[in-house]
Amino acid sequence: MLKVGVVTLFPEMFDLYSDWGVSGRAVDRGLVHLSLFNPRDHAEDAHRTVDDRPYGGGPGMVMMYRPLQRSIQDARMALPGAKVHLLTPQGQRLEQADVQALARMESLILVAGRYEGLDERLIDAEVDQQWSLGDYVLSGGELACLVLLDAMTRLLPGSLGDECSAGDDSFAHGLLEHPQYTRPEEVDGRRVPEILLSGNHGAIRRWRMKQALGRTWLRRPELLERQPLDAEQKLLLEEFIAEQGQSSV
Ligand code: ADE
Repeated sequence: MLKVGVVTLFPEMFDLYSDWGVSGRAVDRGLVHLSLFNPRDHAEDAHRTVDDRPYGGGPGMVMMYRPLQRSIQDARMALPGAKVHLLTPQGQRLEQADVQALARMESLILVAGRYEGLDERLIDAEVDQQWSLGDYVLSGGELACLVLLDAMTRLLPGSLGDECSAGDDSFAHGLLEHPQYTRPEEVDGRRVPEILLSGNHGAIRRWRMKQALGRTWLRRPELLERQPLDAEQKLLLEEFIAEQGQSSV
């Protein structure tokens, strides 16, 4: 079982994780256990203050050191040995390979930042790793934590109905996934590619691989640069590129 502690000022937001869909089922099945820690429980004044103005001036508020540190300590007590991961736009870009590595951990602690940021000394003292979802700014780390949790949970054995489906995902093999179709065979004049109706499993596998390679080449060419292709894949991609040329004339 993967044990995750989340340090957040908005624990209610994690109902979205525990109560719905694939992640909710994984919680029910005991594949993952989520515990929530609220820094506000460690505020030191009557107003339960957890943020303050930045030294040096400027807009916004900064999360204070002490309440957050005590909350992380609570999480450490509950999850001994767990590393502390902060979700922040200043972190390392999170990739599927990182999600896979994190999902294999026994336990981890996620910290959701709010306001303009955290007192830097807290990061120095308590945070092992910082992750960013991408080059845009969310109003808080909670949604980023939820994204990471969701991506990890669907990789846990037994969390998806079909054990194979996580393996086919976009990025699982460094490529975007091939397109998918379901019934009916024709809708609004658009037909399913004939090959998928052929029952020829070898041809279908090759077609799907070709589409995966072609899509990656068209949409995310930088992914192909880090991807060693075997002889068959090289050939399929060359075919795809040649067909592109024909269809655009
Ligand atoms: N918190 C705010 N923006 C974020 C981002 N892009 N990634 C991770 N955490 C964040």
